[in-house]
Amino acid sequence: MIIAVDGPTASGKGTISKALAAHFGLPHLDTGLLYRAVGRQTFLDGGDPDNAEDALAACGFPDKLLADASLRSEVIGGMASKVSVHPKVRQTLFERQRAFAEQEGGAVLDGRDIGTVIAPDADVKLFVTASVEARAARRYAEMKERGEDVLLEVIAEDLRQRDERDRTRAEAPLVAASDAYVLDTSTLGRDEAIAAAIEAVEQAV
Ligand code: DC
Repeated sequence: MIIAVDGPTASGKGTISKALAAHFGLPHLDTGLLYRAVGRQTFLDGGDPDNAEDALAACGFPDKLLADASLRSEVIGGMASKVSVHPKVRQTLFERQRAFAEQEGGAVLDGRDIGTVIAPDADVKLFVTASVEARAARRYAEMKERGEDVLLEVIAEDLRQRDERDRTRAEAPLVAASDAYVLDTSTLGRDEAIAAAIEAVEQAV
């Protein structure tokens, strides 16, 4: 069984995907991490994430970079969003994601274009979303807990900009597949969102 989970930043799709993978005994790939690694490698190489050639060159990042905790930062998230605009970067990362989706027994993948481009044949497609306010409040709480000094309005503005870039890019924009189940987590707690996702998968298969 292939489960595709798409949605904007901080919608809860990562938490939901991990929980679905554990519940159904499937391997999980956070595809955003691949774009984050390209963004980070572009920076390490002294390149510009808006430049297609620089970003393409960074697609050969070493695998060990995927385990680097710095990839989770907001700054790297912004760079990932920039490098993900380039069609050649998306093509280069396509095979790796497709191979993961096609492995025997199935898989859970989360990202922006899993249900539309990487695995349009997925058995279940979820589009996890939430209001900017709800997502910003979650991100703010996470960052405060890590001891980071942040402003709620700055986070909200950053999310709006990233959403805009992800939704309006020409190649594989962030959009719900026509056959996706839309799960709005704005008013749901973590456990409620996970339970709703498990139920949606069970009903779909
Ligand atoms: O899910 P995330 O915040 O880790 O993703 C970081 C960026 O990577 C996101 O802003 C857009 C890009 N991305 C993408 O274009 N396609 C994917 N399948 C996953 C992420």
